[in-house]
Order: sequence, then structure tokens, then C-alpha cells
Amino acid sequence: MEDSVYVREGMHGLGIGSALLAALIASARDAGHHVAVAGIEAENTASIRLHERFGFRHVGTVPQVGTKFGRWLDLTIMQLPLT
Ligand SMILES: CC(C)(COP(=O)(O)OP(=O)(O)OC[C@H]1O[C@@H](n2cnc3c(N)ncnc32)[C@H](O)[C@@H]1OP(=O)(O)O)[C@@H](O)C(=O)NCCC(=O)NCCS
Repeated sequence: MEDSVYVREGMHGLGIGSALLAALIASARDAGHHVAVAGIEAENTASIRLHERFGFRHVGTVPQVGTKFGRWLDLTIMQLPLT
């Protein structure tokens, strides 16, 4: 399964992202999924930190897959074994 967590602007840093990701991981385990995968823009330190906190590890980088404000951006792939 692939996860994606978004918390409303102004509500960051309050533990909401952690609560959502914990619920997603528990639900994925209950459903019998084998691994969780997250594709994160490589400079998104908040999301990378959030995923590291739950044991996700960096397994790869896909270079220059998107652009924002005229700049190419890399995608960090993180993975968590569930079973
Ligand atoms: C990434 C996101 C979901 C985190 O949610 P959150 O509710 O702010 O996260 P939490 O309060 O549970 O904090 C989780 C961890 O992230 C860290 N963190 C939060 N904001 C951070 C920031 N701006 N820079 C660095 N680390 C940050 C916290 O320190 C915490 O780690 P710690 O407990 O080791 O200190 C939220 O910032 C967000 O919605 N961002 C915009 C959307 C996005 O980028 N989604 C991810 C797409 S893959």
C-alpha cells in the first residue's frame, strides 16, 4: 500500500500527522498488506521525518520527476515492512 498524509496549513507540528499515519499503518496491517511505501518530494523534511519516526527507511530516489517554480524535484521513496 502507498500512504499519503496531509494536514491543514496552520495545524502542523501538533501530532496530527503522526496520529493519521499510525492509524493508516494499523489499518494496513489489519488488511494484511506486506509493505507500506511513501513517495515524498526529496526536500520535504517534515514528511521524511514523520515517516522515519514510524520506521520507514529510504530505499531509493527517483531524480527529476516533477517541477515546481521552474525547478526539477526528486522523489524520495521510503518503505516500511508490515508483516
Ligand atoms: C508532513 C505532515 C503531514 C506532518 O504532519 P504534522 O501533523 O505536522 O506532523 P507531527 O506534528 O505529527 O510531527 C511528526 C514529525 O514531523 C516533524 N516535523 C513536523 N513539521 C516539521 C517541519 N516543518 N520540519 C521538520 N520536521 C517537522 C516533527 O518534528 C515530528 O518529528 P519528531 O516527533 O521526531 O520531532 C504535514 O507537515 C503536512 O501536511 N505537510 C504538507 C503536506 C505534505 O507534504 N504531505 C506529505 C506528502 S508525502
